[in-house]
Formats: sequence, C-alpha cells, structure tokens
Amino acid sequence: MLIAQITDLHIFRDRKPAYGTIDTARFVEQAVAHLLDMPRRPDIVIATGDLVDEGSANEYAILRDILAPLPMPVYLMPGNHDARDTLRAGFPEHGYLRQHPEWIQYVIEEYPLRLIALDTLVPGSGHGELCEGRLAWLDEKLAEQPDRPTMVMLHHPPFKTGIAHMDRMGLLSGAENLGAIVARYPNIERIIAGHLHRPIQIRWNGTLVSVAPSTGHQINLDLRADGPPAFIMEPPALHLHDWRPDVGLVTHQSYIGDYAGPYLFKGGGPVPKG
Ligand SMILES: [Fe+2]
Ligand SMILES: [Fe+2]
Repeated sequence: MLIAQITDLHIFRDRKPAYGTIDTARFVEQAVAHLLDMPRRPDIVIATGDLVDEGSANEYAILRDILAPLPMPVYLMPGNHDARDTLRAGFPEHGYLRQHPEWIQYVIEEYPLRLIALDTLVPGSGHGELCEGRLAWLDEKLAEQPDRPTMVMLHHPPFKTGIAHMDRMGLLSGAENLGAIVARYPNIERIIAGHLHRPIQIRWNGTLVSVAPSTGHQINLDLRADGPPAFIMEPPALHLHDWRPDVGLVTHQSYIGDYAGPYLFKGGGPVPKG
C-alpha cells in the first residue's frame, strides 16, 4: 500500500500569493501533477493540515478544484490555519470528517495499515493541543485493535525540534499524555505530522515520528535559540509511505519540480513510461 502525504498547502484567498509572495495554489497544482505522474501511483493521499491559510470557504473551494483531478481517495486533516466547520462544509462528501461530532478525528479501517487522524487545532491559535477528550478517544480506538499495524496522524508534531519559533507554537498541551498512550501500543508503526515545513524525524515513545516538508514554502533551518521566524524557498516535497507487511513502513521523500532525468544507467536514454 502506497500512501502519499502532502502537508501545509496554505491555499490563500482568491488564489493570491500567501504572505504576499508564495504562489501556494500553483505549488499545490504542481504537487497534484507530480502525484499523477508517479511511476507507481499512490493508493491514497493524506493531507496533514494547514490545507488553507485563513480557514475561509473561498480557500477551501479553491483547494477542492485543485485536488479534483486526483483519482484516489484523499483524506484531509485540520492544522492551525484551518477551520473545522468550514472545512467540513467545503467537502460535504468526505464523510470521515464527521466521524466525531466535535473534532476532526477519524479512523480509516479499509486498508492494510489502519489510519488514525488526530485533531490538534486550537481555534485562533498557532499552537496545538490534545485535550483529555481527544486523547481518551485515541486510547479507545487503539484499544479496539491493539495488534493491527497502525499509523497515527496529526498536524502538530509532539516534540521540540530546536527551531525556536516553531517550538513556541508546537503541541503545547497533551504531548506527554499522548506519549504515555503511544508507548502502550507497539503496533503503532509511525506517527506522521506536518506544521514544521521541513523533513524531521525522531524516535519517540517506541515509535518513529516523521514530519513531511510543505508542498510550498519551507521553514528556514535555524537552530539558534533566538532565530527569527523565517521561511525559505527550498524545493517543495512530499512523503511516500510504502507499507509492505514483510518489510515495514518505508518512507521516501519525493521532490516536486522539474529536474533533469531520470536517465537509464545503461543506454543513457530517458526512462520509459508506463
Ligand atoms: Fe503550515
Ligand atoms: Fe501549522
């Protein structure tokens, strides 16, 4: 099973550039073209939050149009820039968004890898939280199938990255309690996250947390304690999580953009398609 993870799309109102400079809608279009062009097409796509920048209906309508060419199921999750009700209203046929009446937390059961999405959104804030209610729901869902390989997904990663301004708006509440739950379920193959606009990994409570880069702009890699908030136009990318039960969950970082090649090692010509 091949899972594509796109994250931090940040579609902006009227397709305007985000922060005055980043053509995020164009970047998401490029990500969609990239997914459609993959030699082995992903079975599903998961978007781990910050789908749009201001949580408006206009932005979700633009996102909807841009994602429409994708033939495989797409699962949406909220980030700190999203708005739950507007997201649900913009994608009425995405029934899983309503699995829980309050939070956008859901379980997808129909694949070899069980998928559990958590909602870390605090309306009006950049940081995230997992309150007792959200964590109790997770514990309950994990307890239903403790032996089945599972991937947990959330927008705000539950650890401090060393990028100071991002840590100040990280998962400020509930990370420790999440860790205590995760530690009890060795069937959790992975926790995937977004929010950081960079690829970052850590061993955490018996599993691996992997963070995917943004489809658009990246956060500047500055590990000084007083590093200023800044973004950088490093190559956009997505993650491909390849679940093979006999191997495990193998994650590849796939760069989005026009690069020379691929060329065959033998013969020197282009790699044949199809
Ligand atoms: Fe973001
Ligand atoms: Fe975020």
